[in-house]
Amino acid sequence: MIKIIFCVVVFSIIALAGAGAYHLYQVKQKNLAEMAQFENNIALNADLGRVLVIYYSLTGHTKDIAMQIKAKTNADVYEIQTLKSYTSPSVYLESKKELKNREYPELKKGFKPNMANYDIIFVGSPVWWYTMTPALYAFLQNIDFKGARVAPFSTQGSNPGTFFKDFAAHAQNATIVTSESFNNMDDSFAPQISNKINAWLNKLAAE
Ligand SMILES: Cc1cc2nc3c(=O)[nH]c(=O)nc-3n(C[C@H](O)[C@H](O)[C@H](O)COP(=O)(O)O)c2cc1C
Repeated sequence: MIKIIFCVVVFSIIALAGAGAYHLYQVKQKNLAEMAQFENNIALNADLGRVLVIYYSLTGHTKDIAMQIKAKTNADVYEIQTLKSYTSPSVYLESKKELKNREYPELKKGFKPNMANYDIIFVGSPVWWYTMTPALYAFLQNIDFKGARVAPFSTQGSNPGTFFKDFAAHAQNATIVTSESFNNMDDSFAPQISNKINAWLNKLAAE
């Protein structure tokens, strides 16, 4: 009996490891295929007018995209910040509980933009647990976009889940325009990511 249990456990571990490795392989192939589309230089030929970039970022990936949009559009920038600090690995369980209970963290105050001052507002966040971060949920509770054009963006390991659907459901009075989603890539793909942002900005300018 013990032998059978041992065999089942070992088989399960091997199967799980194999499935995990295969998933990572598929994600890598998908990312490479996407990056291949942005290998050739795509010039930014867009004037988006007056731009605001709002973002939340814990480990810098979303900040990096936000800063690129800022540099390309001369945008004003606002960083959503929580009063408390999330640390790894507790952030996983902590945020799961917050999302489940809809008890979002308190944010640093002091943000009162006049939406009418901007032609487009970018709002970015990492994907946590296949949805928006608790910080972005908290932020959206207290913001009325007053009809402004809003372009959401996410960064994630590989799966944005329902991020954009959830954003649309919670962004009060936003006129949502084309969104964009960025899987984390290593620095060697910086030119492709820059081209991807340019293509997105060009598209938004044409909408
Ligand atoms: C609590 C937590 C949950 C996450 N959940 C997901 C997820 O559901 N899907 C995914 O693809 N990546 C997930 N990730 C990875 C992050 O979305 C990804 O690393 C993101 O780019 C981090 O952004 P930042 O560096 O701006 O904080 C998660 C990360 C954390 C910390």
